[in-house]
Amino acid sequence: MLKALLRFFKHALTHLGAALPEKALHGLQMALNYMKLGRWMRTQGFRFPRRFQHREQVFETVASLVRDRQVLYLEFGVFKGASMRWWSQALKNPASRLHGFDSFEGLPEDYDEMGGKYVKGWFSTGGAIPQIDDDRVRFFKGWFDQTLPGYTPPEHDTLVINLDADLYSSTIYVLRALRGHIRPGTYIYFDDMSRPDHEPRAFEEFMAETGLKLRPLAADVTLNNAFFVCEG
Ligand SMILES: C[S@@+](CC[C@H](N)C(=O)[O-])C[C@H]1O[C@@H](n2cnc3c(N)ncnc32)[C@H](O)[C@@H]1O
Repeated sequence: MLKALLRFFKHALTHLGAALPEKALHGLQMALNYMKLGRWMRTQGFRFPRRFQHREQVFETVASLVRDRQVLYLEFGVFKGASMRWWSQALKNPASRLHGFDSFEGLPEDYDEMGGKYVKGWFSTGGAIPQIDDDRVRFFKGWFDQTLPGYTPPEHDTLVINLDADLYSSTIYVLRALRGHIRPGTYIYFDDMSRPDHEPRAFEEFMAETGLKLRPLAADVTLNNAFFVCEG
């Protein structure tokens, strides 16, 4: 009886799916993603001491700790430079360096499933690099697997990494490439945790293969934007 009811329910769902616009299905998928994100944080044992309304408040939690140190701020996924600009204002030490990596050609593959707008090429600036009036800022244009192998980080006493490339493939590549530079006291920020198969998957795989421990510091209310610090 129960089996028959379940089959009827699944049958009805297929009709509902056929009738709904793709956008509605995407909305349902995203609602489920946020529930999965809450569950994922819980199963990882991550409890954020602070949850804020805006990502700039999440940034500020770490900026307030490091602003006068010699920071190397690395950003992966720059787009028009909104977050690079924020960090350029926040970091006060003249010896700090801010390096931004991006193809400036947009996402290398689809990020969204059916009905979402984030498809291959989304976020393209047509190759244009942001103009930021700060000598400490430098951009590395190209795909991460082209720009990172030849990259040598300059001297610094604190490393802050902003991962904002959205995709699993891009995020795991960066984490593995930076493995040798991630130490206790390195701050790592994830900008889009909302798709469990992307940044959270890269995060989890990286922790499993390296044995590194990341402690949660601050997140926004949705848990989409989250800062961690490496504890070794
Ligand atoms: C969400 S946007 C970055 C937004 C930016 N941090 C901000 O806050 O305004 C993601 C960026 O990642 C870049 N990206 C993703 N994967 C990449 C890869 N493998 N190599 C280079 N750039 C990549 C895209 O070109 C895109 O500009």
